[in-house]
Amino acid sequence: MIDPMEFKVAGRRVFLARGCGVLAACLTVPLWNLLSGCDVAQDEETAGPLTVTVAELPLDRRVRLEHDGRTVEVTRTAGGVTARSLLCTHQGCNVRWIENEQIYFCPCHDGRFNAQGQPIYGPPRESLRELPVTLTSTQAVIGG
Ligand code: FES
Repeated sequence: MIDPMEFKVAGRRVFLARGCGVLAACLTVPLWNLLSGCDVAQDEETAGPLTVTVAELPLDRRVRLEHDGRTVEVTRTAGGVTARSLLCTHQGCNVRWIENEQIYFCPCHDGRFNAQGQPIYGPPRESLRELPVTLTSTQAVIGG
């Protein structure tokens, strides 16, 4: 027969051991990101729209903007304004555009995307997300 007191103590030990394991796991990812230089951005879905003045965007240049906990790239061309999320589609780190290689690079797990945002190396399987852009007479409203 199981002694209820022994079961209670054993159950508490199991609970504590599991709790320590969960706590260690929770601390490991942010610590790794801090040490590795990975920059895990916030959830893009909770960010509000970003408004930029179109005239302030240089023509045919990628402009990196931080807004509401997310990083986006905005590009103005003769054809209009486009925007792309710079959150890696693997685990949400911020990617960086490497001009001389013409790729986006994710420092967290060595992920790479081509100039169109399609995955070309490493763990990412999905393209960087294109964001909707609504143009007014002077402004571009991105995402939201
Ligand atoms: S988060 Fe970008 S490759 Fe893993």
